[in-house]
Amino acid sequence: MSVLLTNIGELVTNDPAHGGWSDPASSGSAAARPVGSGSDSSGSAGLGVVRDAAVVVAGGRIAWTGPATSAPAADSVVDLEGRCVLPGFVDSHSHTVFAGDRAAEFTARMTGESYTGGGIANTVAATRAASEETLRGRGQALVREMLAQGTTTVEIKSGYGQDIATEARTLRIARELTPETTFLGAHTVPAEYTDDRAGYISLVTGPMLAACAPHARWIDVFCEPAAPTAFDEDEAGTVLRAGIRAGLGVRVHGNQLAPGPGVRLAVEVGAASVDHCTHLSDADVDALAGSWAPGSAGPGTVATLLPAVEFSTRSPYPDARRLLAAGVPVALATDCNPGSCYSSSMPFVVALAVREMRMSPAEALWSATAGGAAALRRPDVGHLRPGARADLTVLDAPSHTYLPYRPGVPLVAQVWKDGARV
Ligand code: NIG
Ligand code: FE
Repeated sequence: MSVLLTNIGELVTNDPAHGGWSDPASSGSAAARPVGSGSDSSGSAGLGVVRDAAVVVAGGRIAWTGPATSAPAADSVVDLEGRCVLPGFVDSHSHTVFAGDRAAEFTARMTGESYTGGGIANTVAATRAASEETLRGRGQALVREMLAQGTTTVEIKSGYGQDIATEARTLRIARELTPETTFLGAHTVPAEYTDDRAGYISLVTGPMLAACAPHARWIDVFCEPAAPTAFDEDEAGTVLRAGIRAGLGVRVHGNQLAPGPGVRLAVEVGAASVDHCTHLSDADVDALAGSWAPGSAGPGTVATLLPAVEFSTRSPYPDARRLLAAGVPVALATDCNPGSCYSSSMPFVVALAVREMRMSPAEALWSATAGGAAALRRPDVGHLRPGARADLTVLDAPSHTYLPYRPGVPLVAQVWKDGARV
C-alpha cells in the first residue's frame, strides 16, 4: 500500500539533494557539515525545502519526495491543502517516566529561589512509592502528549529510582514507549548514600547496571560538581566507562548550573551528546568542534540545548550562536521532567530557541529534527530522504517559520508515524 501526500505548500526534507544541510547522523565525522548560519530571502536555506510538493510513503518509509507535478502514482491520495510538512520532531532528552509533581518548587522559583537539582529527591521518593501501573500510565500519557505536538521519536531516561528495582522498572516501562532508553542511575546520590558516595558508584556500576543494561541503549550521568548531590569528573567517568563496557552508548548532562568538566569528559569518552551546555569555556567549544573534525575517530559529540529548562528555572540561556559559529552540530530537546522543565512541547522549544537564543527558524527546526537524530545517532529519522522512516508532522500553517512566529498556538494538524496517521 502506497500513499501520496500532495498539495504540500512547503515540504521540509532536510535532504541535501534538495539543498539541505548534510546530516551528521548519516554522514559521520569526515563528511559531516554541521548546521551553519546560512539563510536566504525565504529563511529556509539548509532545510531542503520543496514548495508545492508531494511525498510518497510505502511500507512505513519515505519512497519519494519532490514537486507535486512530477509525483508518481500511488494506491491512495491525501490532499494536504497547502499545509507545511516537516520531519517528525526528534526529542532526544526527556525524563518522562516518574510519579508526583513539583509545582510548588516551580512557584518558589518564580518568586526568587534558584534551581539546584535538590528537588530531584522528592521525585525519587514519589517514583519509588508508585505502582508499575501508575508509572506506565503517566509515561504513556506524556508520550501521547508529545506525539500530538509532532514528536515522533523520543528518548527517555531513568534516574528517579536510584535503587535497583525502581531503575529497572522505569527502564522496562520506557522501553515499551521507545527504543531510545537511557540508564541514568547516576542522576543524584540518594539520601541513604549521602555518607557513602563511593558505595553508590559501586552500586550503579555493578548490580544496578547489570539489571538495567538489558533495557537501555544509553548511559547518562549528571556531571555537575557544583551541585552537591550530582557527580564530579572522576565519579562520572567511572560510571560512563562502566556503561561503555556493558555495551551502552554515552550521553552526559553537563555544564548546566556552572562551568565544569562535563563537556570535556563527554568528548573524551566519545559521547553522542552532551546536554544543557549552558556554561561553556572556549576549550569546551573547541573540544566539541574538534570531535567533528575530518579524520576524527567516529561521529562527534552533539551539543544538545534545552532552552525550556532555562525558561522554567529562570536561568540564562546557552549561547547557541557561539556553538553554531564553531561548527558544532546543535540539537534541541525538551528535557521534559517534573523539576527543571515540565514541558513536552518541541514547538515551544523551537520558539524559545529562536526568540531567546537567536537561532534562525531554519536552524532551530533543523536542530529539533536532524540535530536530535544526530544526538541519538539515528540515520533513519529527522529527515525525509527516500528510505527514512515516514514520520511526518503536518502544520496548519504555510511554513515552518510559523512555529516561532505563532508561539503557543497548537499548529500541529496531523502526525504520521511509520507511514500511518496517528
Ligand atoms: O536535566 N539536571 C539534571 N536533571 C534534570 C532535572 C531533573 C529534576 O529536576 O527533576 C535536568 O534538568
Ligand atoms: Fe535532563
